[in-house]
Amino acid sequence: MGSILRFSDEFIEDVRARNDIVDVISGYVQLSHKGTSYKGLCPFHNEKTPSFSVHKGRQMYHCFGCGASGDVFNFLMEYDRQTFSEAVESLARRAGMEIPQESADPVGRAEKGIRDRLLEVQKEAAKYYFYVLYTPQGRQALNYLKGRGLSDEIIKSFGLGYSEKTGTGLYNYLKKKGFTDAELKDSGLFVYDDKSGRARDKFWNRVMFPIMDQNRRVIGFGGRVMGDAKPKYLNSPETKIFEKSRNLYGLYAARSSRKDHMIICEGYMDVISLHSAGFTNAVASLGTALTSQQAALIHRYVKSAILMYDSDEAGIKAARRAIPLLREAGINPKVCDLKPYKDPDEFIKGLGAAELEKRIEKAGNGFMFEIEQLKRSFDLTDPQGMADFQNVIVAELLKFPDEIERNSYLESMARTYNIDPDLLRRQLARLAMKGTSPPPKTVDEIKPPVARVKDPAALRDEKILLSWMSRDEGLTKYLKEYITENDFTSDIHKELVNALYDQARSGTFNPVSILNRFEDVEEKSAAAAVLEGHLLPDNVDDRNRAVLEVLAAIKERSYNRALESADITDPEVMQKFLLEKQKLEELKRGGLAIGG
Ligand code: GTP
Ligand code: MN
Repeated sequence: MGSILRFSDEFIEDVRARNDIVDVISGYVQLSHKGTSYKGLCPFHNEKTPSFSVHKGRQMYHCFGCGASGDVFNFLMEYDRQTFSEAVESLARRAGMEIPQESADPVGRAEKGIRDRLLEVQKEAAKYYFYVLYTPQGRQALNYLKGRGLSDEIIKSFGLGYSEKTGTGLYNYLKKKGFTDAELKDSGLFVYDDKSGRARDKFWNRVMFPIMDQNRRVIGFGGRVMGDAKPKYLNSPETKIFEKSRNLYGLYAARSSRKDHMIICEGYMDVISLHSAGFTNAVASLGTALTSQQAALIHRYVKSAILMYDSDEAGIKAARRAIPLLREAGINPKVCDLKPYKDPDEFIKGLGAAELEKRIEKAGNGFMFEIEQLKRSFDLTDPQGMADFQNVIVAELLKFPDEIERNSYLESMARTYNIDPDLLRRQLARLAMKGTSPPPKTVDEIKPPVARVKDPAALRDEKILLSWMSRDEGLTKYLKEYITENDFTSDIHKELVNALYDQARSGTFNPVSILNRFEDVEEKSAAAAVLEGHLLPDNVDDRNRAVLEVLAAIKERSYNRALESADITDPEVMQKFLLEKQKLEELKRGGLAIGG
């Protein structure tokens, strides 16, 4: 469902008109009036002198320090990490406007009605459990939580509760609230007896952890026994509103923690302990291994993550599974060593928050962690063992598509394990020649780029995309909708992309012939180098992911460049930008699906 389609342009403009940007931002940043604009300390980077300015006339903000800029919607998207629709919705609410229904068709509306009711059930259940915790019946549970160091404040903010022993308390309460058995059946909170049709509460004599989605709506529960009976935790089953693989415990708070990374841990209690120690950027998966959807969810908010898994074998195994998954989602993973403690909860109790902060700073790179783990299966005192280990290192290095990154890891591997870097380099070249991805030579090695170097990273991504396109007609056709010459920064690249599109359209796809267009010999060889540069990954999924990543990087830069030179006083121009940005976000969320 395209969220941008949810609201009409008129509605969006109406929302904008009713939310003066100075008023809105004043709610977050202390602003002082200077001429036509308002100044304050930038909320998006650390600074001591104000370089953040809000222009009342243009209804825009801009930071001269970090370059952050946008309109009132962008501000909320950046500050509160809201999506565009969420920003529109919250500003509409702020202005007391009526929010249009999500879906106009009757089926969609009915579906939404059901979901809303299910959310109501969960919300009421959470209220009930919380209430019981503070009654005499909940005394033991409250003592348990207090005994684990939780304050009333933290109990309240996580909405912890208690499911009492009678086993029908919640059922009776919700019936009285007017929920039907059909609704309660779908909530996952009850067990219905097939024969008698009678219902019992699923959770019974457990400490309750409501699981909330990123908007702080309760969608399910985890329930813990207070002793060491098994199972320790009982979790809600998946329902229409509760999908374990697409949610993270603690995300609603972590997403607005204003840190540039998130902490990923294993347990509910770890998250709570971390939050109460000030690490409000902690999340946990919901009793299962981290999924790629969860990684994508994290990627919406931050680009790096610290893994704080248990320091036992199971935790190490879980971290090894999570690392590639995070990396594929565009997140830089690091691993935090908690030894001699078992998990973050115990670490904080043992050594405190300041020590943990130090460990976070020292957290090792995911790649180094992986190699360190692999090392354990080789006998490095034996020459053959050493040789095998080197082969493994080289094979791992090959997985880095980016040459500069690959090289810097090669250097640090060599240093860490006392291996001659040239030896690794030769081995790398040999393995690469065998035809595995990525190619041994890159564009830059074949020929230095002719284009005036503006942004080396931009040029590199453009080259990669162009050479992929030149190897795949289908990809070229597909990308026509998403990227144009305007997104490229060098003249040669602009010319190449247009030529590729021409050929794909006219059914004469033959990229080599494009070189004829370049008369200047240097240009010609530069163009050739671009087309020759990079091979597409073999696997369709890898390929789609790789293309999307490069495409998104190019579009993002292009968007930012355009924004710099645009007339931001023109609402039409701004609207166009927002739509573009939204389109890109949607694409990033949905992923590419070319070929199969
Ligand atoms: P404490 O033991 O109270 O400190 O809990 P914890 O949150 O640290 O849990 P632990 O590290 O033992 O387990 C990590 C997560 O795995 C938990 O938060 C649960 O989500 C899940 N989990 C643990 N035990 C069980 C179980 O018996 N059944 C299910 N379904 N999930 C479990
Ligand atoms: Mn624990």
